[in-house]
Amino acid sequence: MSADDAGWEIVGMLDEIEDGGLLQSMLGDEEIVLCRVGAEVFALNNWCTHADARLSEGCLSGHELECPLHEGRFDVRNGKALCEPLDEDVRAYAVRIVDGEIHSKVK
Ligand code: FES
Repeated sequence: MSADDAGWEIVGMLDEIEDGGLLQSMLGDEEIVLCRVGAEVFALNNWCTHADARLSEGCLSGHELECPLHEGRFDVRNGKALCEPLDEDVRAYAVRIVDGEIHSKVK
Protein backbone atom coordinates (compact mmCIF):
# COMPACT_ATOMS: atom_id res chain seq x y z
CA MET A 1 0.00 0.00 0.00
CA SER A 2 1.39 3.41 -0.93
CA ALA A 3 1.38 6.46 1.32
CA ASP A 4 -1.54 7.79 -0.75
CA ASP A 5 -3.65 4.85 0.41
CA ALA A 6 -3.08 5.47 4.12
CA GLY A 7 -6.31 5.59 6.07
CA TRP A 8 -8.66 4.73 3.19
CA GLU A 9 -11.14 1.91 3.72
CA ILE A 10 -13.59 0.30 1.31
CA VAL A 11 -17.06 1.22 2.61
CA GLY A 12 -19.27 0.16 -0.29
CA MET A 13 -19.69 -0.28 -4.02
CA LEU A 14 -20.95 2.50 -6.27
CA ASP A 15 -23.52 0.22 -7.92
CA GLU A 16 -25.08 -0.51 -4.50
CA ILE A 17 -26.49 3.04 -4.33
CA GLU A 18 -28.81 4.59 -6.87
CA ASP A 19 -28.65 8.30 -7.65
CA GLY A 20 -30.31 10.13 -4.73
CA GLY A 21 -29.94 7.06 -2.53
CA LEU A 22 -28.44 6.41 0.89
CA LEU A 23 -26.46 3.48 2.25
CA GLN A 24 -25.49 2.77 5.85
CA SER A 25 -21.92 1.55 6.27
CA MET A 26 -19.03 1.42 8.74
CA LEU A 27 -15.76 3.33 8.70
CA GLY A 28 -13.61 1.73 11.38
CA ASP A 29 -15.93 1.70 14.38
CA GLU A 30 -17.95 4.72 13.21
CA GLU A 31 -21.35 4.23 11.62
CA ILE A 32 -21.61 6.35 8.49
CA VAL A 33 -24.13 7.11 5.77
CA LEU A 34 -23.09 7.22 2.12
CA CYS A 35 -25.07 9.72 0.03
CA ARG A 36 -25.05 9.50 -3.75
CA VAL A 37 -25.59 12.64 -5.81
CA GLY A 38 -25.12 11.84 -9.48
CA ALA A 39 -21.67 10.35 -9.98
CA GLU A 40 -20.47 11.65 -6.60
CA VAL A 41 -20.71 10.06 -3.17
CA PHE A 42 -20.47 11.86 0.17
CA ALA A 43 -20.05 10.36 3.63
CA LEU A 44 -21.37 11.66 6.94
CA ASN A 45 -21.59 10.23 10.42
CA ASN A 46 -24.90 8.34 10.50
CA TRP A 47 -26.18 9.81 13.77
CA CYS A 48 -28.01 13.11 13.80
CA THR A 49 -26.44 15.72 16.08
CA HIS A 50 -29.86 16.69 17.47
CA ALA A 51 -31.15 13.42 18.94
CA ASP A 52 -31.11 9.67 18.34
CA ALA A 53 -31.90 9.24 14.67
CA ARG A 54 -30.08 7.48 11.87
CA LEU A 55 -29.59 9.80 8.92
CA SER A 56 -29.55 6.76 6.60
CA GLU A 57 -33.31 6.54 7.30
CA GLY A 58 -33.77 10.12 6.14
CA CYS A 59 -34.31 11.59 2.72
CA LEU A 60 -31.76 12.99 0.26
CA SER A 61 -32.73 15.91 -1.97
CA GLY A 62 -29.88 17.27 -4.06
CA HIS A 63 -27.04 17.92 -1.59
CA GLU A 64 -29.39 18.14 1.42
CA LEU A 65 -29.99 15.19 3.72
CA GLU A 66 -33.10 15.49 5.88
CA CYS A 67 -33.23 13.74 9.24
CA PRO A 68 -36.21 11.39 9.60
CA LEU A 69 -37.10 12.56 13.11
CA HIS A 70 -37.47 16.37 13.16
CA GLU A 71 -36.62 17.28 9.56
CA GLY A 72 -33.28 18.93 10.33
CA ARG A 73 -31.21 19.19 7.16
CA PHE A 74 -27.46 18.78 6.61
CA ASP A 75 -25.31 19.64 3.58
CA VAL A 76 -23.78 16.30 2.57
CA ARG A 77 -20.72 18.04 1.08
CA ASN A 78 -19.44 19.26 4.44
CA GLY A 79 -21.85 18.16 7.17
CA LYS A 80 -23.08 21.71 7.83
CA ALA A 81 -26.32 22.01 9.75
CA LEU A 82 -28.68 24.04 7.56
CA CYS A 83 -31.75 24.69 9.70
CA GLU A 84 -33.42 24.33 13.08
CA PRO A 85 -33.65 22.34 15.25
CA LEU A 86 -30.01 21.55 14.43
CA ASP A 87 -27.33 23.62 16.13
CA GLU A 88 -24.36 21.35 15.48
CA ASP A 89 -22.77 20.13 12.24
CA VAL A 90 -22.37 16.41 11.64
CA ARG A 91 -18.96 14.91 10.93
CA ALA A 92 -18.09 14.56 7.25
CA TYR A 93 -15.54 12.11 5.84
CA ALA A 94 -13.36 12.08 2.75
CA VAL A 95 -14.59 9.90 -0.14
CA ARG A 96 -12.98 8.62 -3.33
CA ILE A 97 -14.22 6.21 -5.97
CA VAL A 98 -11.71 3.64 -7.27
CA ASP A 99 -12.84 1.12 -9.90
CA GLY A 100 -16.42 1.21 -8.63
CA GLU A 101 -15.38 0.88 -4.99
CA ILE A 102 -16.28 3.63 -2.54
CA HIS A 103 -13.39 4.44 -0.24
CA SER A 104 -13.64 6.70 2.78
CA LYS A 105 -11.39 7.96 5.53
CA VAL A 106 -11.42 10.30 8.45
CA LYS A 107 -10.47 13.79 7.24
S1 FES B 1 -33.05 13.95 15.59
FE1 FES B 1 -32.43 14.80 13.69
S2 FES B 1 -33.45 16.72 13.63
FE2 FES B 1 -34.01 15.88 15.56
